[in-house]
Amino acid sequence: MKDTLNIPRHIGIIMDGNGRWAEKRGEIRANGHKAGMKSLRNIVEFTRELGVDYLTVYAFSTENWKRPATEVKFLMKLLELYIKNEVKYLKKNNIALRFLSRRSNLEPRLLKMIEQVEEETRKDSKMVLSIAFNYGGRQEISDGINKLLEDYDNGLVKKDQINEDNFQNYLYTSKMPDPELIIRTSGEFRTSNFLLWQGAYSEYYITDVLWPDFKNEDMLKAIESYNLRNRRFGGI
Ligand code: FPP
Repeated sequence: MKDTLNIPRHIGIIMDGNGRWAEKRGEIRANGHKAGMKSLRNIVEFTRELGVDYLTVYAFSTENWKRPATEVKFLMKLLELYIKNEVKYLKKNNIALRFLSRRSNLEPRLLKMIEQVEEETRKDSKMVLSIAFNYGGRQEISDGINKLLEDYDNGLVKKDQINEDNFQNYLYTSKMPDPELIIRTSGEFRTSNFLLWQGAYSEYYITDVLWPDFKNEDMLKAIESYNLRNRRFGGI
């Protein structure tokens, strides 16, 4: 089946349902996040095989700081672990790792790791994996406006020069194509502040499958559903 599919160039995923996955098993939520990390590795491998150029996953939103301190701490540690464990695999498979993040309130140690792995994998060109971590779409747009104002103050842009195309360069996703398909697991019908600007014309696919259970066949179902959509971009 996969040979006949039109594969999106950029897929975004809201990886939801780790907590429920663990609770269903009578396990602690942290185990759900660990299982979610395994699921992420599998989907990175599979989308790379399919020929997806950009995969963007939502791992920690700016609103997730409201969770209990122990869970927040665990997710920060999990990201460190992810970077440590995956860097070798990513480099071997020519995958660039990027972070879509408000960086100002991340711990200096984590920030250093993020910057280091981005630099180490910068030239890897088979696929770009972006992790939205400490990410919010509204925050991304307001951060972009602040960068734009800085450029304005420095005389780099003038009034009336900004349009939809060049404003994109001020976003964390600068120079990336918009996602054609955004998948949300665990059955919620919300954007949750994910890729607000970039997702303006994305096709959404919602599945009841919880993120740790999301397998290759679920990815194929999402792409199949995307293939059946009639994308008009406001036209007729
Ligand atoms: C949402 O599920 C998931 C998260 C907030 C964390 C996502 C993390 C991973 C998929 C693991 C990979 C992690 C890194 C750092 C690369 P939820 O906890 O909101 O689930 P619930 O809605 O069932 O409670």
